[in-house]
Amino acid sequence: MIFALETSCDETSTSIISPEGKILSHIIVKQSDHEKFGGVVPEIASRSHIQILQKIIPQTLFEAGMEISSINAFCSTCGPGLIGGLLVGSTVAKTMAIANNKPFYPINHLEGHALSVQINKKIDFPFLLLLITGGHTQIYYVHKIGSYKLLGTTIDDSVGETFDKVAKMLGMKYPGGPEIEKRAIQGNEKKIQFPKPLIKNNDFNFSFSGLKTAVRLKIIKEKNKNNSFTNDVCASFQNTVIEILLRKTEMAIEYVNENFPKINNLVVAGGVAANMQINKSFISLCKKHSLKLAMPPKELCGDNAAMIGWACLQRFNLGYKGDINFKPRPRWGLEELNDEILVNKI
Ligand code: KG4
Ligand code: ZN
Repeated sequence: MIFALETSCDETSTSIISPEGKILSHIIVKQSDHEKFGGVVPEIASRSHIQILQKIIPQTLFEAGMEISSINAFCSTCGPGLIGGLLVGSTVAKTMAIANNKPFYPINHLEGHALSVQINKKIDFPFLLLLITGGHTQIYYVHKIGSYKLLGTTIDDSVGETFDKVAKMLGMKYPGGPEIEKRAIQGNEKKIQFPKPLIKNNDFNFSFSGLKTAVRLKIIKEKNKNNSFTNDVCASFQNTVIEILLRKTEMAIEYVNENFPKINNLVVAGGVAANMQINKSFISLCKKHSLKLAMPPKELCGDNAAMIGWACLQRFNLGYKGDINFKPRPRWGLEELNDEILVNKI
């Protein structure tokens, strides 16, 4: 039985995962205090995590019908993320572990997202991963747990951050991704041509800051900022992002097919994967390349403790040991988790 905490950004979440990998209880509290600031305020987030955890930890045990003495290991996200939140979550989880004489596992948030698809579906390794969150836009070849190969990353903004900033320019509330998705349904995606930075480059890297600037200039120039203009900006922007994601992922698929052990699945995970238009577009890409598309259910796309507990369970079962002395890290790439011997094989 694993007790997991997630506090790396503005969701405070707790979960209990059974030895078979079933989610026995799961609570996600989306902090709403940040909406009016148009983005996450780290200090407010840390303080809110403390308040919320006090309420939801007992609720999590109650929901699972369990005493804390039945828990075999405690874990929390230890990075990457906002350091204040990481410190709150890891200090609470470590304290629970010490008080109950059980191990504490520091879990990498990106590994949580990467493996989140496996909670409800059996997805075999290796797979190609497109990780699209508020902090990251990356493509990985996931050979197995502890063996991640970074193929491409954003050189500036992440895709989620770009959605949030464009939404802010249009006067929408934070987080902007779901707002833009809603408005895009009513807009014309072909109405405005936006640039697709790095699309012609022969690598798997992304860049979104030029696109963001192009949207800003378009909004500044437009005299008649009515609803239909906003809808068209949302639809055209979202469509441009999708075309960039599809192109770079397709290039990575072709590269992996030629250079690495065969993959059967493309996994698209992270908060932005909740976008239905992105989901639809990747279905056709996967068909074209005879791959299965695996995306987490909507409630497991955004930040949540179940994916952290799941990643912990996999590590626990593989014999990895806990580490009560682990210091949370605001920056902590997936490749830093690699067991060198495994990685050298690919
Ligand atoms: O994975 P996540 O919850 O947090 C990080 O690890 O960063 O991702 C949050 C990001 C936010 O930028 C949010 O706007 C975006 O995911 N997002 C979406 C949608 N739902 C959430 N972006 C586009 N379309 C959506 N439906
Ligand atoms: Zn996340």
